[in-house]
Amino acid sequence: MAILPIRIWGDPVLHAPAQPVTEINDELRTLVADMFDTMDAAPGVGLAAPQVGVPLRLYTYTYFDDDGEIWRGVILNPVLWMEPAVPGDPDPETESEGCLSFPDHKFPLRRADHVRVTGQGLDGEDIVIDVRGWRARIMQHEFDHLNGVVYIQRLIAPYTQEVQTIIAESGWGVPGLSWTPEGSADQ
Ligand code: NI
Repeated sequence: MAILPIRIWGDPVLHAPAQPVTEINDELRTLVADMFDTMDAAPGVGLAAPQVGVPLRLYTYTYFDDDGEIWRGVILNPVLWMEPAVPGDPDPETESEGCLSFPDHKFPLRRADHVRVTGQGLDGEDIVIDVRGWRARIMQHEFDHLNGVVYIQRLIAPYTQEVQTIIAESGWGVPGLSWTPEGSADQ
């Protein structure tokens, strides 16, 4: 178990499409275990492999479902279908999201309410994730990472300008920046 450094906006691995997973081996299983540790320590509700510097098409996720049960997993080589998003401006109260690769900020973004994601689990089994609401948002956000897209690239005005200011003031937008979550005592 290990907590991995999380790459920050500007690192090239975040901005290029990731490659398909072609082999499930011990190295991949270790990566996934470390990604769960890193996601939990951050904490975050999702983590894509490029965010920890690995350009492969997989992500982990964790959230509480509508019944308050933990909903958690990993998907390899996901393919995402989504219902079209309802047109309109996003509500800052209910539609704001963040990203561990653009830490400590949140911005409103309209997303599709319903997605269906197909892919493989860590044993190579086919899996289907059919979800709505925040879980659908997580799927769209993490899937974007596999295509080199970070959610701030999808924002509308005035948030686009705020993002540029943050990047300039933080010194982000250059290769090689990362941050490492601190582990909690039980990890
Ligand atoms: Ni993200």
